[in-house]
Amino acid sequence: ADEWKFIAKVSELPKGDIGTAKHPGGRLDLAIYQVDGEIYVTSDRCTHGAASLSDEGELDGYQVECAWHNGRFDVRTGQALTMPCRAPLPYFDVKVVGDDIYINPR
Ligand code: FES
Repeated sequence: ADEWKFIAKVSELPKGDIGTAKHPGGRLDLAIYQVDGEIYVTSDRCTHGAASLSDEGELDGYQVECAWHNGRFDVRTGQALTMPCRAPLPYFDVKVVGDDIYINPR
């Protein structure tokens, strides 16, 4: 089944910063990253504490660093890379059609 759900427009993402959107199911907030023209989407909530990665995160290549305790995740896979983060970030398959960003909400 075609499960793709629209979440945001590329042209409305903050320039040089991490964007945010609501998960189409309303269950969680999403963080939207732009790296080398590609879009990646994870849960916005750091898995170590309650930090919002779109507010408190710093994007460094394919890694997002949480400002609270400097834990890092790979935005492509959600994998936790450095302590104190251990649990992976939920991440989503992304499809961009023109200006529209879709995720597969799984
Ligand atoms: Fe993100 Fe601790 S809340 S590293």
